[in-house]
Amino acid sequence: MPKTILVTGGAGFIGSHTCVALAAAGYLPLVLDNLGNSDRRVLDRLARISGVAPEFIEGDVRDRAMLDRLFAERPIAGVIHFAGLKAVGDSVADPIGYYDNNVHGSFVLAAAMQAAGVRILIFSSSATVYGDPDSSPIPESAPLRPANPYGRSKLMVEQALGDLQRADASWRIGLLRYFNPVGAHETGLIGEHPQGRPNNLMPFVCQVAVGLRDQLAVHGGDYPTPDGTGVRDYVHVMDLAEGHVAALRHAESQPGLVTVNLGTGLGASVLDVVKAFERASGRKIAYHIGPRRPGDVPAYWGDPTLAQDTLGWRATRSLDAMCADSWRWQQGNPRGYEG
Ligand code: NAD
Ligand code: UD1
Repeated sequence: MPKTILVTGGAGFIGSHTCVALAAAGYLPLVLDNLGNSDRRVLDRLARISGVAPEFIEGDVRDRAMLDRLFAERPIAGVIHFAGLKAVGDSVADPIGYYDNNVHGSFVLAAAMQAAGVRILIFSSSATVYGDPDSSPIPESAPLRPANPYGRSKLMVEQALGDLQRADASWRIGLLRYFNPVGAHETGLIGEHPQGRPNNLMPFVCQVAVGLRDQLAVHGGDYPTPDGTGVRDYVHVMDLAEGHVAALRHAESQPGLVTVNLGTGLGASVLDVVKAFERASGRKIAYHIGPRRPGDVPAYWGDPTLAQDTLGWRATRSLDAMCADSWRWQQGNPRGYEG
């Protein structure tokens, strides 16, 4: 009997790819999403990739009564919790909205799980909890000093789940700190489609390549990095998705709490990404070097050793693969799931 895994935020970018990885690993994903930043048409695409669409429930993780019904009616073996808001700038403008969704939402979910006796929880944290690190690669033991409400919301949930596990040792919790997730499923059927003007690098580069934007503004060319542009640890979203399956299997094998980085351990600059995208797409990416973006960290990448040692997981897909898969998705779906 395949185990049912509740995937909150499963219609979103990382959640939808994780549904593919879960199905491939023999689990039954059950998606709960309020569609605040996603499109239900992703479900048809998931059916085309996996053979069957995951069951979908439109709802909000802050709705305790709905969660209680869900846990009572379904044989849910564990939860992967993606649902949340993720735009740093919005979190500065609307901190309470962010704490309500990301922190309160996680608390309602954890309380419903506690009441229902479901003890496996994998949580989407972020490398943003490290803030501006002293050095890279960043180990999980590095100081935690998030620089904005979004990052603080992630750290608050990490800390609360740590307290929960200390209070009740039967909990099995994975806190996954993602670096920069990019790319798309290799079929090009699912991917990331930001609403409005993209804040993040890869979606912006994609939109320049496909002709939706004139040129990329490189945010700063005078950082103390090899080519002067910002350096990040880009990780393929399917590698990340498989990291969730590895974390789930680890949680099934033993109680406790693990906190791991999910990254490649490699840094790539903005211009490295531009060049890799040009190779993947055969198109020229027009860009100009503009001023630094306020709040940006010059360079960071993760230490992936602990993920390898505890979960047996490591990223295998290259920057070229990330760009090729992003490009396939972008070309086939210039307006996202609208076609
Ligand atoms: P996304 O916006 O594509 O997915 C989040 C999904 O959650 C969306 O489908 C949205 O509709 C849903 N949602 C939001 N609030 C909800 C609520 N209260 N109830 C039910 N559904 C709700 O974002 P993503 O990139 O897939 O990110 C997934 C998770 O990973 C988030 O928690 C995010 O903070 C975290 N994360 C993302 C990144 C990144 O760069 N994408 C990096 C680090 C961490
Ligand atoms: C941002 C968020 C981070 C979040 C992550 C999700 C901030 C300060 N940080 O990280 O919390 O977890 O997204 O992936 O917002 N760049 C350009 N031009 C652009 C866009 C980006 O040059 O149009 C550069 C940036 O300066 C940076 C790199 O590209 O050096 C990556 O930027 P981005 O994709 O926005 O990710 P982060 O800033 O790492």
